[in-house]
Amino acid sequence: MTCPCLPPVGTALIFLLVAQLGTGLKCVCQLCTNKTCETGADGACWNSVMLIDGKEEAVKSCLSPSQMKGQVFCYSSRNVSKRNCCFTDFCNNETLHLHPERPSGGNSWSSLELVMVTLVPVCLLCVSILLWVHTLHGQRCIYRKANKNDMEETLDDQMSPDKHLKDLIFDLSTSGSGSGLPLLVQRTIARTIVLQESIGKGRFGEVWRGKWRGEDVAVKIFSSRDERSWFREVEMYQTIMLRHENILGFIAADNKDNGSWTQLWLVSEYHEHGSMFDYLNRYTISVEGMVILAVSLASGLAHLHMEIIGAQGKPAIAHRDLKSKNILVKKNGTAVIADLGLAVKHDSVTNTTDISSNHRVGTKRYMAPEVLDDTINMNTFESFKRADIYSLGLVFWELARRCPVTGIYEDYQLPYYDMVASDPSLEDMKKVVCDQKLRPNIPNQWQSCEALRVMGKIMRECWYANAVARLTALRIKKTVSQVMTIMDGKDSLASQLT
Ligand SMILES: Nc1ncnc2c1ncn2[C@@H]1O[C@H](COP(=O)(O)OP(=O)(O)O)[C@@H](O)[C@H]1O
Ligand SMILES: [Mg+2]
Repeated sequence: MTCPCLPPVGTALIFLLVAQLGTGLKCVCQLCTNKTCETGADGACWNSVMLIDGKEEAVKSCLSPSQMKGQVFCYSSRNVSKRNCCFTDFCNNETLHLHPERPSGGNSWSSLELVMVTLVPVCLLCVSILLWVHTLHGQRCIYRKANKNDMEETLDDQMSPDKHLKDLIFDLSTSGSGSGLPLLVQRTIARTIVLQESIGKGRFGEVWRGKWRGEDVAVKIFSSRDERSWFREVEMYQTIMLRHENILGFIAADNKDNGSWTQLWLVSEYHEHGSMFDYLNRYTISVEGMVILAVSLASGLAHLHMEIIGAQGKPAIAHRDLKSKNILVKKNGTAVIADLGLAVKHDSVTNTTDISSNHRVGTKRYMAPEVLDDTINMNTFESFKRADIYSLGLVFWELARRCPVTGIYEDYQLPYYDMVASDPSLEDMKKVVCDQKLRPNIPNQWQSCEALRVMGKIMRECWYANAVARLTALRIKKTVSQVMTIMDGKDSLASQLT
């Protein structure tokens, strides 16, 4: 049986070969009923593949001897067809391909190959990323460890037992950002302070004397309820370049959790004389002592008020609660401004203050008239400074009263002691200061002493109802300094004469 679809074939070479065999062949035949055909004698098994519509189509069949004539069926190896004749039973079973390197239908990858081709690079990539992350993490750990060791070493070095607080503050504040001790040092100091006795109580905190390595420190303790006040005051003290000999020396801040509540600490230099209020209550002062206190106070306020421009500059700060209870007296007889809990900073770039909260804060007795009657011009930061100047004038008055004039000392009194009750209301103060325009009395006897005369004049110029007309802290500092120079001159002249 022959396959009916095959065209005539035959070449002499194949003919001879088949003739040699002499018997018929069994071949694979796709189109035959049982997929097999027989060639009869001198035939051949035929195998071909052709490209039809881009796909390889294989044809397997038998070639009859007549079809073998010319052999055209047996040889072709072009891109579009391939034919092959063979001469053993079922020798055409194998499948021919036009592109033997690629299997039929195999422009695409086999699924295994696809999996391999995709998975291997992905796995390699993952492994590399993991290795990279691991190495990076390792390096960070080493860096952190080294850094921690470095910090610990520096801390140990900085806090060596023979170091006094003053040296520590000087070393670390001048080498750092200019805003205070590093936090780690602050915490270490705060946690090694032993509290000794309660020394004062103000608006928020209770103030204690504590010991750190044998040195006295002051610890203002806020309850967790007053966390905002603690944060605010600490923030103020940490203001870059605030440190000044006439502003309370800030040492450390710490928040200690004792299990049931949080204690907020503000550690500062301790001044055994306490507040100026306590000091004036206890002691009378010489004119020289008064001038020293006044000039140092003006100096501290001028520094607070001053804006220093530049990378290591400081913003202008207004105190807003200047009074004798918030000023401390140092051992050397100079004053330091304390209690920055209500202070405000000015941002000159945006012309804004750092808080927009109630502006009627502070102590009523010391409030400037424009604060009392709420006419203060909130649009300019100068207004807050001018209100401070009014309060400064009142503190000067408290000071001057404790100086001897013609051998007589006045007892200590708070400003307006003779005009309002002990705990005056805003209305009481407003009536006296704004409506009646009264001010503390400046005794005539002060005219007989040059320093007191100048101080009296300064006070009046601090108390103008028109805030713009008031002196500035810097002007006051300069004027009182001049008084001091005159007094020094007289002293040296006097000592030369005796
Ligand atoms: N560094 C200090 N040295 C000595 N006494 C201080 C010190 N700091 C505060 N005091 C005392 O504690 C009082 C209250 O302190 P202050 O800072 O004004 O607290 P508050 O914010 O509660 O008013 C002061 O009037 C003063 O008597
Ligand atoms: Mg206070």
